[in-house]
Amino acid sequence: MRTQVAIIGAGPSGLLLGQLLHKHGIDNVILERQTGEYVLSRIRAGVIEQTTIDLLDEAGVGARMHEEGLVHDGVQICVDGVRHRISFKEMTGKAVMVYGQTEITRDLMDGRAAAGAPTIYAAYDVSLHDIFGETPTVTFRADGKTQEIACDFIAGCDGFHGVSRKSVPPNAIATHERVYPLGWLGVLSETPPVSEELIYVRHPLGFALCSMRSPTRSRYYIQCGLAEDIDAWPDERFWEELRPRLDDEGRQRLVTGPSIEKSIAPLRSFVAEPMRFGQLFLAGDAAHIVPPTGAKGLNLAASDVRLLSQALVEHYAEKSDAGIAHYSSRALARVWKAERFSWWMTTLLHKLSDDSFEQKIQLAELHYLFRSQAAATVFAENYVGLPF
Ligand code: APR
Ligand code: PHB
Repeated sequence: MRTQVAIIGAGPSGLLLGQLLHKHGIDNVILERQTGEYVLSRIRAGVIEQTTIDLLDEAGVGARMHEEGLVHDGVQICVDGVRHRISFKEMTGKAVMVYGQTEITRDLMDGRAAAGAPTIYAAYDVSLHDIFGETPTVTFRADGKTQEIACDFIAGCDGFHGVSRKSVPPNAIATHERVYPLGWLGVLSETPPVSEELIYVRHPLGFALCSMRSPTRSRYYIQCGLAEDIDAWPDERFWEELRPRLDDEGRQRLVTGPSIEKSIAPLRSFVAEPMRFGQLFLAGDAAHIVPPTGAKGLNLAASDVRLLSQALVEHYAEKSDAGIAHYSSRALARVWKAERFSWWMTTLLHKLSDDSFEQKIQLAELHYLFRSQAAATVFAENYVGLPF
């Protein structure tokens, strides 16, 4: 088999890249370790920036998002039972959209199927060869046979645990990491959201987040220990832990119900540098992880894909390799802005230790955010979309 770009991973990064390349007549094959059903069963975050919306439109998969997505003009932050609102519209003139990553993945999969572009699911033992040479190849096992794809470029869109980043010689890559001593326990339930806007909660009992997927479907999170066993969290226990973290109005409006999904996600900041190695490019979670507090994971993946697709289009259509040469530095400049914002929001809102100094500083920092027009503007600018 031969293609122009071999894409490893059919998460949002790989599917979006494949769709954009296809639109520009660039051949690509996606190799995915899991089945399509498994990929669609993963519940992930759901806040998208305008630049991500624009890119999904450009890829031709935005129709359902515009119908079903919820436009949010602001966000609420509840500190020890008192709610504050930050208006994105007033501060920046912009808004974000709440639309689940699972739905985006489904729209991208449907778009790819309609385009007739190939995705090989259940592709095992994917292995990258000759990434620094002229003729890179990818081998894998599917349908019981070992197969090979020769290509011009490989896009490593295979997430944090993927094979692409691990295929790079250790001396060619630097990694930077912070592992937080906690995770998020998330619950999806068929109940109306507690508020029309997201509420990020800072409370002495720990962080909570009230989010949503639709006017009838809520997504809630509370911070939990890393060693927590999901079976020790029946729904009642979850609601009992969430309720006291809310303000009076939130407690009154909270509608509880059976969970339709429940999972624990660890909190991590991670960056691999550079993001290009010869003919291999990393994009999305394969190159970087942000803790979910800033809602940046999917948006960062989309901005990598935007830069990478432009670079590849320039290569094939304009015979210019400038975009390829600058891909890593351009992507990383944005990555570090998102890392900073996500780290800051995480340290601002979670109970990270019993250290009273840390807790007092958190409160002082939050009060500064609510009092200072400048601080609130910077917050809003970062939340609605980082500059390129
Ligand atoms: N071979 C083939 N596919 C692989 C391999 C492998 N060795 N390893 C992983 N994969 C697949 C995974 O099964 C997954 O479907 O790569 C895909 C990577 O998808 P994601 O983890 O969703 O990463 P990405 O597409 O970069 O999306 C980033 O997802 O995790 C969130 O917060 C993150 O919102 C961000 C977005
Ligand atoms: C979500 O709705 O899942 C969500 C929203 C905002 C975040 C993280 C997750 O910061």
